[in-house]
Amino acid sequence: MEKIRRALLAWYDANARELPWRGIRDPYRTWVSETMLQQTRVETVLGYYARFLARFPTVADLAAAPLDDVLKLWEGLGYYSRARNLHRGAQQVMAEHGGVLPSEVDALRRISGIGPYTAGAIASIAYDVAAPAVDGNVIRVTSRLTGLRENVGMPSVRRELEKRAAALVSPERPGDFNQAMMDLGATVCVPGTPACERCPLSGMCDAFAAGDAEDLPVMPRKNPPRQIFYDVCLIFSGDRVLMRQRTEAMLCGLWVYPMLEGRHTMRQLPQAVKRLTKLTVKDMAEAGEARHVFTHQVWQMRLLIMRTEADAAPDGWRFVTLEEMDRLALPSAMRAAAKAVRDALNDSHL
Ligand code: ADE
Repeated sequence: MEKIRRALLAWYDANARELPWRGIRDPYRTWVSETMLQQTRVETVLGYYARFLARFPTVADLAAAPLDDVLKLWEGLGYYSRARNLHRGAQQVMAEHGGVLPSEVDALRRISGIGPYTAGAIASIAYDVAAPAVDGNVIRVTSRLTGLRENVGMPSVRRELEKRAAALVSPERPGDFNQAMMDLGATVCVPGTPACERCPLSGMCDAFAAGDAEDLPVMPRKNPPRQIFYDVCLIFSGDRVLMRQRTEAMLCGLWVYPMLEGRHTMRQLPQAVKRLTKLTVKDMAEAGEARHVFTHQVWQMRLLIMRTEADAAPDGWRFVTLEEMDRLALPSAMRAAAKAVRDALNDSHL
């Protein structure tokens, strides 16, 4: 065990990626970075992290901000419940912890948006607590290194993996150790075919010795994402377009155009639009297609431009100008639709 720690930390000292959330000791920054890094690549996070901390430099700034501002800064990063929970968590840290994140894993776990991974990451990186931070990278490295050849989706196997990961953590440099595991998983011990020839741990690795690193970890079988067809209606009233802020769990708080599930004929559309928005529309035209892949769903969208003479938006909807639209947080799934709105408005202004 000590040999593994020493080899990994030496490798980290020589190869650590220089990242803006490293070499600082600010649990809030660790919290923000680790939240953004969940399911998201380092390269994608860099810009978001810088903009977020420029706007919300402290827990107090984040707690005091309107949720819509937080979502706007999260726009395009995906998994927006992370932003909602982080915001709620900041308010909780102000109310219950005097604005300072606690250092114990159990206390961290009670804060909104902080799960076992994030709690371990904050405790180890910001407070030098010898706790593991088990993310996808650590699952892969640990299962290969220790030769865990069972389905890590099963609770008992997962517990065993966490036990092994916890036992490995360096008591002297837990934060560096955890980040070294993440870097190793991201750059060397990658999914599929790992680069064992460059790995500082190959001589101590069970899977390397057995020659089955490529087959590990054994992952639960995923259901294929559900395909959903939508007719996305871009309804113009003069130079404004109809939108609503979602209240559904998925993409909650983000702004979208009216969406009709299924494919409609041009004859069916006015009725369907009326049922959804109460508006009478005319001059319908197709404006292209778009596709967005989520974790569990694929949206196959057909974009339709239409006009209404109505001036006032129905309850739950808002007519917005282009300037207003740009200040709202739109999900990436609406990017093509937003571009079609922009193009339509710019064309009509020529
Ligand atoms: N992925 C998750 N947390 C990370 C970190 N602290 N550094 C690099 N990649 C990460």
